[in-house]
Amino acid sequence: MVSKKMEKALNKQITAEMYSAYLYAAMGAHFDAQNLDGFAKWMRAQAAEEMEHAMKFYGYVVETGGRVIFEAIDKPPADFGKPEKVFEEVLKHERKVTRLINALVELARDEKDYATDNFLQWFVAEQVEEEAVADGILQKLKMIGEHPHGIFMMNAKLGERKES
Ligand code: FEO
Repeated sequence: MVSKKMEKALNKQITAEMYSAYLYAAMGAHFDAQNLDGFAKWMRAQAAEEMEHAMKFYGYVVETGGRVIFEAIDKPPADFGKPEKVFEEVLKHERKVTRLINALVELARDEKDYATDNFLQWFVAEQVEEEAVADGILQKLKMIGEHPHGIFMMNAKLGERKES
């Protein structure tokens, strides 16, 4: 059983994860509009992963006897600029999500809610990976700069990501 305050915070995180899915799907559409199909595929896979995150929170709220309540999901931007700019946004967004997860951990610890603290540790580890992956791609894009050949290679590389 989680407290009402925790239930509300977990519900808020469901919406935040769904917004992440919406944001990455929008980035995918941005890339599709530029015929960067590999970048677009990577974003679709990322969007699907974010929906999994949302549903993990959903499952936990239900499992602990809480009530899942959806809120409105903000409209994402439509245009994001060149690939380097997009991945700057991805990294910025993932850092924001990390802060949200950390705030949930702090709340769980304030409330001595060890079950939720334990549940959240999966996300703590996941965020380390999410930030590292986004930063890794961003650093490569910085090296590539404006070289079309490099962008083409990166498009092929990112297109290898499996869509779940
Ligand atoms: Fe669910 Fe990418 O954080």
